[in-house]
Amino acid sequence: MNPAAVRKRILDDHVDLRTRLDRLEQLARSDRCPPAGAETLRAAGCDLLARLEAHMAFEDVHLARVLREADAWGEERERRLVDEHRQQRAHLKHIELDLREPAADVETLAHELLDLIAWLRRDMAAEERERLDPDVLRDDVVGIRVEAG
Ligand SMILES: [Fe+2]
Ligand SMILES: [Fe+2]
Repeated sequence: MNPAAVRKRILDDHVDLRTRLDRLEQLARSDRCPPAGAETLRAAGCDLLARLEAHMAFEDVHLARVLREADAWGEERERRLVDEHRQQRAHLKHIELDLREPAADVETLAHELLDLIAWLRRDMAAEERERLDPDVLRDDVVGIRVEAG
């Protein structure tokens, strides 16, 4: 997969994830009280986590590779991605445990999911700015760019 295709696939994933975040946000804001709300919220939260894991796994393989090969800072960029994903997975694991905890109350879960939603929106925006720059992920880069003159 070439850098432009990897970039496009990740941006498409982000569009899909943002739509899911919007839906989950609606649910987290509206379903705080009814008893049936807890199960709906748990299921929607777990769905999102599964989708996110698939997205991150794609980035671990394909984004890591094209970042590494992009330029002289490639290895550092790859290292940061791996580090960041490690921290993110620890955080997501914690949320997953709460979602699977039968005693957790719906209001606490809703709060936790709203924090997660805000965090993921910020994270995707930062990733797009810092890692998906079309000047870095180009198909015509053959090595280290040399400034002329
Ligand atoms: Fe990521
Ligand atoms: Fe991403």
